[in-house]
Amino acid sequence: MTGSLKDRGLPQHVAIVMDGNGRWAAKRRKSRLYGHKQGALHTRDFVEMFAAYGIPYLTLYAFSTENWNRPRAEVNGIIRLLSENLDRAIEIAHGQNIRIRHLGKEDRLPQEVQKKARAAIELTRNNSGLTVNIAFNYGGRSEIVNAAQEIVRRRVNINSLDESVFSGYLYTAGMPDPDLFIRTGGEMRLSNFLIWQSAYAELYFTPVLWPDFGRDELEKALADYSRRQRRFGGLQPK
Ligand code: IPE
Ligand code: IPE
Ligand code: MG
Repeated sequence: MTGSLKDRGLPQHVAIVMDGNGRWAAKRRKSRLYGHKQGALHTRDFVEMFAAYGIPYLTLYAFSTENWNRPRAEVNGIIRLLSENLDRAIEIAHGQNIRIRHLGKEDRLPQEVQKKARAAIELTRNNSGLTVNIAFNYGGRSEIVNAAQEIVRRRVNINSLDESVFSGYLYTAGMPDPDLFIRTGGEMRLSNFLIWQSAYAELYFTPVLWPDFGRDELEKALADYSRRQRRFGGLQPK
């Protein structure tokens, strides 16, 4: 593929709220956990497919800080799925030069899952292809509070603190903000996902449920994005 991403009308960073696993399963009279399993398998295929576009950043919302409020069996099932999928996912990712990062808090996750996640991040740290941020145990407000705490702890000079310095204390430090924010599953809300970083993201909502969000659906979202006029408060589209 030639030409810059911008010339080709592509975003640099796509963020996705992977919603609708439960409803996908209910439509098939299956358990919610079955839906999460299919969602997780789909995520693996999706990342492989996405990597071919040459878009450098993909952030996936897999589990929010609020999702702990679900029944214990569902929460445990989701964590088990994450753990089971990590090994294979790491292998595939590393083979494709993909860098894996985690956005969110490590606490509350079982020690062995934390260990596996750290190993995945470490193994893929120097890969130069697509960066995949997995937002797990992630909450946007909690991220902002953490950043504020860290800034106070380090006694950052109040006069040097601006938006760019503040961004450097978020989980996404050093990465561009999302240009395109996709939510599957039909809800039209952010649900505490990247609320700082998405200040100027283009929002795309689709009723398609996550396990059904494949290549054609992604193409539709990207085509829609390429027709948006981004002004960032100015008058000229950028
Ligand atoms: C998204 O699917 C996955 C997680 C939140 C973990 P849901 O489980 O929210 O699916 P619906 O919204 O109930 O269909
Ligand atoms: C958002 O979906 C979180 C993830 C997809 C991981 P939810 O299903 O938790 O969001 P709400 O509860 O409908 O806002
Ligand atoms: Mg949901």
